Formats: sequence, C-alpha cells, structure tokens
Amino acid sequence: MNNHSFGCDFGSYHLKIYHRDVDAYLIQHNMVAVQDKKGLLAFGDEAYAMYEKAPSNIQVTSPMSYGNLASISNMQAFLRNLLEKNIKGQLKGAEYFVALPTEMQERIFTTLIQDSNMKPKNVYLVDKPVAAGLGLGINVKEAQGVMLVDIGAETTEISVLSLGGIVISRLIQNGGRSIDDAIQSAIRKEYNFFIGSKTAETIKKELAYAVEPEQDTMQICGRNMVIGLPQMMEITSEFVYEAIKEQLGIIMDAVKTILERTPPELGVDIIRNGIYLTGGSAKIHKLDQLLEQKSGIKVSVDDEPELSVARGLARVMGEREFRSLAFVTKEQKYE
Ligand SMILES: Nc1ncnc2c1ncn2[C@@H]1O[C@H](COP(=O)(O)OP(=O)(O)OP(=O)(O)O)[C@@H](O)[C@H]1O
Ligand SMILES: [Mg+2]
Repeated sequence: MNNHSFGCDFGSYHLKIYHRDVDAYLIQHNMVAVQDKKGLLAFGDEAYAMYEKAPSNIQVTSPMSYGNLASISNMQAFLRNLLEKNIKGQLKGAEYFVALPTEMQERIFTTLIQDSNMKPKNVYLVDKPVAAGLGLGINVKEAQGVMLVDIGAETTEISVLSLGGIVISRLIQNGGRSIDDAIQSAIRKEYNFFIGSKTAETIKKELAYAVEPEQDTMQICGRNMVIGLPQMMEITSEFVYEAIKEQLGIIMDAVKTILERTPPELGVDIIRNGIYLTGGSAKIHKLDQLLEQKSGIKVSVDDEPELSVARGLARVMGEREFRSLAFVTKEQKYE
C-alpha cells in the first residue's frame, strides 16, 4: 500500500499539484486535447501547444471554465493521466487535499476525485483563500484581518480572513484572460488587426503596466483584416496600458467593495497588515502600485504568485498545526 498524498489547485489556466512524497510541484496548463470525442490525445502543456492550431476533429479545451468545472470527465482523465505519468507506484489509496474556491459547492471536487477510477483513500477540502494565505507565509489561524486578492486567469477572488476562517469572500469572473481579451479587441478595433489569444497573453506579459507605463514596444504577428494576410506590426506599452485600464478598474472596484463591507475592527487590521496580492496575474507590472493608489493600503506581492494556493496546501498536509484547516463534505466521514 502506498501513501501518496497530493494537494490540488484546479485553476482555470494552470493545474497545480503538490506531491508530498517527493516534496515537489507539478504545474501544467489545464487543458486537454480530445480527438473525435474519443479520448485524450494530449493533456497539459502538450495540449496547450495545440490550442488554436488544431484541425476541427481535435477539440482543445480547458476542463475548468471561470473557476467552475466545465467537464468532469476531462478533468478526471487529465488528473489521472498526469499523476500516473509522474508518480512511482500505484495511485490507488492516495490522499487528496483540494483547494475549494469561494462559492463552489463542496461536493463537486470530492465527487470529481471519488468518482474517477483512481480509488482514493480520502479527499479533504481546504478553502482556497485560507490555503493562499498559508502559502504566502501567513499564520492564518492566528492572524486577524488579512486581505487577499488572488488574480488568476479567469477569476479574481477577494477575501478577508481572520483566525483561520473567511469573514468575507467574493469571486468575480475577471482576471488575466479578460485582460488578454481586452488587448485582443483593442488591437482589432484600432488597427483592424487580428491576433490570437496566445499573442495577446505574450503582449500582456511583456508590455502591460497597471500605472505609468515604461516606454516599450514589441513586434507582433497577426492578420491584417483589410488585406486578409498575415503581417507583423509594432505595439506600444502606452497602447496596452489604455487597452487594459477598464478591466483593471473592474478588479480594483471589486476590492474597494469588499473593503467597504469589512467590519471596521478588521479594516484597522488590514491597514496594519496590508493587502496580499497573489495569483499569476499579480505579475502584471506595477499592479501593486495601482492597488495601493486605489485602496490607500500598502500591498505586498509574492515572487511565485501562481503557486501560493498549492504551497498552502503543502503546509496543511505537512504541518500538524494546520491540519485542522482541512475538512470533508457532510456526506463523508473518515475514521
Ligand atoms: N508575467 C506575467 N505577467 C502578467 N500575467 C501573467 C504573467 N505570468 C502569468 N500571468 C497570467 O497569470 C494567469 C495564470 O495565473 P494562475 O495560474 O494563478 O491562474 P489559475 O489559478 O489557473 O486561474 P483561476 O484562479 O482564475 O482559476 C494567466 O492569465 C497568465 O497570463
Ligand atoms: Mg487560481
């Protein structure tokens, strides 16, 4: 009997898994390629490489959509294949610790893993903001009045934690993807130039500034919609700054709404502790500065913001004092 133990953060863009036995993280694009609806042709980064390039008989999709499970069977097949490829020994009897996003039904991830044919021993849940807080090095069980803003790919989760619990949490369906879409559509409108979503994402990573854009340009490839042919063109950081302003504004407004709803005593703690910005989109240049300007509160960002939730799961799995933060659905009782 093995004792594999996995911490799973099912992101809309990345699937992140902490594998306790080897103390390592597996990070893959959360994508599958299915040929003629028959079964998995590819998964993870390999499927992502096919995205927007595959012929019509190959469907390349994400099993997660805006923080929700879009296809349970694809998510199960991906998880099983990924784990089988990467672990030694059998999967049967493994333990899973899954990050549960705000507003997501408890049962759904438990069912996902239990109904796969992976034959798990136990499935535990940990509230995602609680895991993110732990992953950022906060002792969430003791800390009072901590605000986390997790800007992922298709969701932004804004939460206030106190003494190991969630006081307020809100999830909006805006994030890195809506910023990519804004870049794509601004380029189409302004230049009659069509770019793919991967190009839009590359532009964002290189040129997107949340405040005071530094002067920079890049050459991009797309289709000139007037002449209908592929072409190169130059794009500037100032243009990107204008294109993404509205999307960033929506996220900032959501943070302000949560701050307004936060009980005053916790508000005082948040001012003292600052706001923690995390999720892959926290890497947008100077996003911390924008959030500081809009909230009047100091903001800290992590070096590897995509991994904060998985790192937090690792702590729940490995540090006895945090084990009580894991729970099971009402339908289940272990031991
Ligand atoms: N250097 C960068 N600059 C800007 N954005 C980045 C950078 N690196 C990654 N991102 C963005 O981060 C997002 C992925 O972050 P993350 O892995 O936290 O999302 P996720 O957890 O899969 O999504 P969600 O939590 O919304 O379900 C993508 O939109 C990606 O484009
Ligand atoms: Mg995420």
